[in-house]
Amino acid sequence: MPPSAFPALILALTLAYNAQAAGPIAPTAVAAQYGLTTSTILPFPTATQSPSDTESHLVSLWGLNKAHIQDGPENLAFVADPFPSKPAPGVANTPTTGPVMQVTYPEGSFSHDTGGVQFYSLWNTTDGSSFNSMMVSYEIAFDAGFDWVKGGKLPGLRGGLNSTGCSGGNKADGLDCFSSRLMWRKDGAGEIYAYIPTPNNLCSQSSITCNSDFGISIQRGSFIFQSGQWTRLTQIIQLNNPPDVANGYIALYVNDVLAISQTGLQIRASNSVVANGFYFSTFFGGSDTSWATPVTTHTFFRNVQLWGSSSSSNMTGSLVNDAPASYNLKSSMTLSLSLMTVIVASFFCA
Ligand SMILES: *[C@@H]1O[C@H](CO)[C@@H](O)[C@H](O)[C@H]1NC(C)=O
Ligand SMILES: *[C@@H]1O[C@H](CO)[C@@H](O)[C@H](O)[C@H]1NC(C)=O
Ligand SMILES: *[C@@H]1O[C@H](CO)[C@@H](O)[C@H](O)[C@H]1NC(C)=O
Repeated sequence: MPPSAFPALILALTLAYNAQAAGPIAPTAVAAQYGLTTSTILPFPTATQSPSDTESHLVSLWGLNKAHIQDGPENLAFVADPFPSKPAPGVANTPTTGPVMQVTYPEGSFSHDTGGVQFYSLWNTTDGSSFNSMMVSYEIAFDAGFDWVKGGKLPGLRGGLNSTGCSGGNKADGLDCFSSRLMWRKDGAGEIYAYIPTPNNLCSQSSITCNSDFGISIQRGSFIFQSGQWTRLTQIIQLNNPPDVANGYIALYVNDVLAISQTGLQIRASNSVVANGFYFSTFFGGSDTSWATPVTTHTFFRNVQLWGSSSSSNMTGSLVNDAPASYNLKSSMTLSLSLMTVIVASFFCA
């Protein structure tokens, strides 16, 4: 073998090794790896449906919180698949027949009040136990030539039954909810966008961007969305346990390849917060016109499946040192009481 073949051989071996280390792993295999033994498939109809029939379908079959679509029912419809021959690259075994769910973002719309769709699909265990880990997988397609503008929200997971907290600029204190959606940013850059507590200087980590509206961006730009074809997204969350240890885990697989993996998170500050289901939330923005879409445009969704387990994270993590406001209140009350005891005691001792 001539010496000049060596670099090529090493390159080939490196590529083979990387392909093995970071090769595609199907959602069912990820679920098995994390012990998520329960699963459910959100049913799609067999024929296309108008917005009002789509709303009835979701209300009756997708377990919607408060039995309604929170925002934009008129922007939802089951339609024929616009990209039947553009499957998610590298992804096997996805059914490709039947209608898909279309979301419309009207020209000039931004935030969930003016365009897109928001609803919360609750998934309850049959035995009354709680999910402390949950995974959602779905396929998404953007209109060909999609104009990303500055960014927008995409569906993810939610926990806690307060469906107005932990999104839309309502800060998460970990006591009644969390949310973990995705976002596309400028030029299709992808990230996880979570409303969770930010203890132990989380915001100073290089993988984290803490935004002014209290959402945190995890690993922005770790992948790039492609328009005009299907993409499979699989997000897993393992809640931290106990609630004052930051050992929570959030990860995202894009076309079955691990794209984001974030350990060391405090997702909740109370064990009463558990994973409750699929947070379908998508719109341009952002909450001002600088995020607005210049044209009426669409995304499409298919093959939505959830997995869950009652087990929380068993990883190691740091103790949370800056406790939420309610703990501070409690400790300052304890402090005042101790001071009073000392004062009273010294009065009697004098
Ligand atoms: C920790 O959890 C993983 C699943 O996420 C499981 O495979 C593993 O056995 C657990 N380890 C221990 C020590 O319980
Ligand atoms: C699931 O549980 C929640 C909270 O207990 C309840 O409000 C909701 O109606 C349940 N949903 C279904 C589909 O059973
Ligand atoms: C839900 O969260 C919102 C925003 O943080 C808060 O204003 C509201 O009081 C909460 N609702 C309940 C029922 O706790």
